[in-house]
Amino acid sequence: MSLTRLQINRVRNLKQVKLQDLARVNVFFGRNGSGKTSVLEAIHLLGMARSFRGNSVKSLITHGETSCVAFGMASAPGQAGAGVSLGVQRGAAGEAAIKVAGSPVKSVARLVEHLPLQVINADSFELLTGSPGARRQYLDWGVFHVEHRFLEQWQRFQRCIKQRNKLLRHGKMQQQELAVWTRDLATSGAAVGEYRKAYFRQLVPRFKEIVAQLLPSLGDGLELRYHQGWDRQASYEIALQGSVSADIDQGYTHVGPQRADIRVLIDGRLAAETLSRGQQKLVVCGLKLAQGQLMSEQGKGACTYLVDDLPSELDLEHSRQVCELLASMGAQVFITCVDQADIASVWPEEDSGIAMFHVEHGAVTRLPQPGGLLMDPPRQDSPINRSSIES
Ligand SMILES: Nc1ncnc2c1ncn2[C@@H]1O[C@H](COP(=O)(O)OP(=O)(O)OP(=O)(O)O)[C@@H](O)[C@H]1O
Ligand SMILES: [Mg+2]
Repeated sequence: MSLTRLQINRVRNLKQVKLQDLARVNVFFGRNGSGKTSVLEAIHLLGMARSFRGNSVKSLITHGETSCVAFGMASAPGQAGAGVSLGVQRGAAGEAAIKVAGSPVKSVARLVEHLPLQVINADSFELLTGSPGARRQYLDWGVFHVEHRFLEQWQRFQRCIKQRNKLLRHGKMQQQELAVWTRDLATSGAAVGEYRKAYFRQLVPRFKEIVAQLLPSLGDGLELRYHQGWDRQASYEIALQGSVSADIDQGYTHVGPQRADIRVLIDGRLAAETLSRGQQKLVVCGLKLAQGQLMSEQGKGACTYLVDDLPSELDLEHSRQVCELLASMGAQVFITCVDQADIASVWPEEDSGIAMFHVEHGAVTRLPQPGGLLMDPPRQDSPINRSSIES
């Protein structure tokens, strides 16, 4: 799915912005503080109902206002007139109203499936340098979008571990009750672990192929390792049995998918400790691009990339290579930079599906395309579908 239309109300310094006929590649340029990142925040609000910086939703709402809203139309490539309208409103106290195709929905998962988003920004370094939680979130994003049975098991697992930890914390627990939750935890945790492992196996070759293009000097020294969160020789049930006395002593569950992690290693050392900032950014791009590639190869549609300040940390050649990879994937991209030329000079020349937007003091103005066209007319198989916008 890709976004063909976007309306933003009261998101940071964007009081009201309306964008029609969004292209496959949408570049937002402008001076510091003009509102470029805020446009990406608004798209993230629309696709995920929250900020991409992990900040509270309150920080998204324009100062002095009580709510922010993003509305958009998501269309599948080649499906004329088949767009799905999405709308998200968040209030200062955290309240959320989400609508998909005009009907209210309770679960964010319903929203997320219509506009799968991948973010590449300064916080993405967390994937290498941050806590395992960020890497589990990364992994689960991928599993969720390619394996529809994953969500149910993941939710079951979350419920079980919460209940089991609650019992363990209370100390005086009923052994029988603990056994019931342990049994359910073993089943759902094993399923979550299996889905993650299967996904990871498919992800690794894509990741390696992309990084080989971006950072050929790393060669065979690059390795991606998955830790499932318990001894890999044992089933999760056995691992839980082995840790039960430690769990009771310390009041929480020691082993399981909640401890899973992915490690990126270069010649056996952590990439976060070895690579330069620019190299780290390229590895992060590799991780994110590999997920998008896998998703579309599996017929699950293309995801939309939000790339904040692409040129930072990257030299021209590497910016060009990342742009070439993004362009070759055919995914929709929203990308920010300070000067128009920052992207115009590195995006593949032959790509005509690009629209430029100038951002100034919270106002967004589309530049006319060279030759007088706003943009190339969408092809039948293009994610940009004019008839669905106008209907
Ligand atoms: N809740 C808010 N209400 C109103 N304005 C805000 C709010 N939060 C941030 N701003 C302001 O919005 C402006 C735009 O911020 P944004 O991060 O989008 O800028 P930017 O164009 O990405 O800049 P840079 O090039 O420095 O990254 C900034 O001046 C910021 O101070
Ligand atoms: Mg910014």
